[in-house]
Amino acid sequence: MKGVVLAGGTGSRLHPLTRVTNKHLLPVYNQPMIFYPIQTLVNAGITDILVVTGGQNAGDFLRLLSNGKDFGLKHINYTYQEGEGGIADALRLAEHFVEGEKVCVILGDNLIETNVAEAAERFRRQERGAHIILKEVDDPERFGCPELRDGRIVRIEEKPKQPKSRFAVTGIYFYDGTVFEKIQRLRPSWRGELEITDVNNMYLEEGTLTHSLLEGWWTDAGTFESLRRATNLVAETGANKVTQAAPQKAKP
Ligand code: G1P
Repeated sequence: MKGVVLAGGTGSRLHPLTRVTNKHLLPVYNQPMIFYPIQTLVNAGITDILVVTGGQNAGDFLRLLSNGKDFGLKHINYTYQEGEGGIADALRLAEHFVEGEKVCVILGDNLIETNVAEAAERFRRQERGAHIILKEVDDPERFGCPELRDGRIVRIEEKPKQPKSRFAVTGIYFYDGTVFEKIQRLRPSWRGELEITDVNNMYLEEGTLTHSLLEGWWTDAGTFESLRRATNLVAETGANKVTQAAPQKAKP
């Protein structure tokens, strides 16, 4: 399975911090923000990674990450997003890299306490479709928010005024190779973006969207409040924890 980190955008919600740098290069406690999502992919066994970036600081990613030696990688792929078109628009740039395989897409400002190794393993076994990861939050109106019935997702709404559940769709998505054909069919939303939530709803309508719940904390870091929260969480409890496999019982 391939991995894609989306690290473009203008970071306008963090002005003036992002006036001369990219949001994903800002510090979250003791590491640049983008280190965390890359580590999330690596901890899920995904090592063939593409970083999608843009803007005036694209070269800094190469200087910072080089070929991925901080993560035990031998190589990292990079591509450049011209302009601003939303998450699904950025993902489109990964089509030639993914080559019809399965892909895990992670937003460059999404940090987690634990790991998604189990979800990745589950998706490797899933024949087709998509898999998303939900987390209960205090402010679901800030995110993609699922309406649930009997534990099943019936619809996902992007930034609903009246959320239908207390869950957020985290920015960690697993897709099969049909994701690019689905992006082709998207129309810009009210905020002028190609919404990843619309892609997830297409999988839902097809009946191929599965989901799981994330253990441990999750946060984005794209606003002053969430950046502070991310920094505090990393400093206090640490991020990207790898769970040790349960010890095998000795055979009699
Ligand atoms: C994006 C997605 C949203 C998702 C969130 C996770 O929101 O559109 O569905 O819940 O990332 O971080 P944005 O950061 O564009 O506001």
